[in-house]
Amino acid sequence: MKLILATHNASKLAEFRALLAHWPVELVPLTEFPEVRQWNEDAPTLEENAVAKALTVYRATGQWSMADDSGVEVDALGGAPGVQSARYAGEPCNPAANNEKLLTALTGVANRRARFRCVLALVGPGFPPETIEGICEGVIAHEPRGTGGFGYDPLFIPDGYSQTFAELPPEVKNQISHRARAVQAAWERWGRKLFGDASGGSPDG
Ligand code: IMP
Repeated sequence: MKLILATHNASKLAEFRALLAHWPVELVPLTEFPEVRQWNEDAPTLEENAVAKALTVYRATGQWSMADDSGVEVDALGGAPGVQSARYAGEPCNPAANNEKLLTALTGVANRRARFRCVLALVGPGFPPETIEGICEGVIAHEPRGTGGFGYDPLFIPDGYSQTFAELPPEVKNQISHRARAVQAAWERWGRKLFGDASGGSPDG
């Protein structure tokens, strides 16, 4: 079975490849479908955006499609930037400008509590779109640190660690991240349904 990863983000794609390595599917990048170019990501919820991406690709290809929409929610900012995370500092998406704007918004703010939230959407033949969520709690650092990862990773320190996601090895991020947790939950909810006996329980088992 082929599964198309509905993302134009090469860093996300790399994470998905690692996270889905145990799934009995052939992962297909969106680059194999150059005719599927863009979609709207301006819905008010992560769920709607994730479903829109997965559905766009499924309708164009007729093949199993998975997408995610993610964001960082900062308590002191009432949950912002949240669903607006990609365009927090305006369009087109500029991660350095987003990080700078977030740090400026938190100048002098002691409460740095935040979380990454990922909503994963899956759709395929005879399988209407379903979504599942993964959350990673943490705090926002006082300055960008590290060169790994992407997006807000240089600012996000997950609970239980003193390094940012951009400082931690990718293997660690891929064990605890919002995306990792969503993929794990997806396996538990959809694995047997999709792959029958091939699912055999946990992908780590
Ligand atoms: P989208 O899900 O591609 O729309 O991404 C939303 C925004 O959150 C973008 O600015 C991403 O860079 C950022 N983002 C999503 N996932 C992550 C992550 O795992 N680490 C850091 N930033 C992320």
